[in-house]
Amino acid sequence: MDLSDARTLDLFLQVYGTLPRAGPGADAHTVRALGSVPGVMPRTVLDLGCGPGAQTTALAGALPEARILAVDLLPWMVDEASRRFAAAGIQDRVEARVGDMAEPPVGPHSQDLIWCESAIYSLGVTKALQTWRRSLADGGTVAFTEPIWLVDSPPEEIRSWWQAEHPSITDDAGIRSRVEAASYRTITSFPLPASAWWDGYYEPMVTRVEDLKARLPRDPRAIDVVTAAETEIDCFRRFGDTYSYAFFIVQPAD
Ligand SMILES: C[S@@+](CC[C@H](N)C(=O)[O-])C[C@H]1O[C@@H](n2cnc3c(N)ncnc32)[C@H](O)[C@@H]1O
Repeated sequence: MDLSDARTLDLFLQVYGTLPRAGPGADAHTVRALGSVPGVMPRTVLDLGCGPGAQTTALAGALPEARILAVDLLPWMVDEASRRFAAAGIQDRVEARVGDMAEPPVGPHSQDLIWCESAIYSLGVTKALQTWRRSLADGGTVAFTEPIWLVDSPPEEIRSWWQAEHPSITDDAGIRSRVEAASYRTITSFPLPASAWWDGYYEPMVTRVEDLKARLPRDPRAIDVVTAAETEIDCFRRFGDTYSYAFFIVQPAD
């Protein structure tokens, strides 16, 4: 699937950009991760790779005093997130903006909390943490999710699918090493359960995919989007006990 092709990207966003979440996760896990953030309640929060903004809205609910800036590369996602913030009545303190997580659009040492669900792959864990260090206030925390293996020897079929999709996939200890390489320490980590993949992500994705198939049954670009989504869902159905996303809550070590 070639997402640099504008029509393919549009079809992709018709599926992924309208889901409750654009990656595995659920409000309960967002709130659980927030509960592991040390110190006083964060008042400045930066949500990088916000997608349609589900976790941003959950954070806003749990942090009624916080100002939150949600950033995504894609204007579609930012528009969708802005609509959801307005619908939730939080637009006076939660803003969505187009931007790149490689250059967070905030002042130095300004953020109590940097959040990144299912999006840190864009920079890789070590580089992302190094890049975001200068935006963190003293005592600040970063929370992110990344895919991890849950077993020592995953079957070859799923190993090679991940190799093609996200070759840097590792296990919990592997992510902790990348955190350490950025001069951070891991406060805690926990894997997401299978429900976090199905409820707000794959189940609604199945409906979007069926709709796309019915509307554009012979469009090669639509078929590419459908095939990628169906393959991904099939992988999780068969091998979902061998991998998941996990939350990592980390702080600079110094
Ligand atoms: C898998 S989605 C996850 C979205 C959301 N955090 C969620 O969990 O529902 C990844 C998001 O990261 C965004 N993204 C990728 N690279 C980015 C970058 N360099 N800067 C900002 N956003 C980026 C994508 O546009 C996409 O919306």
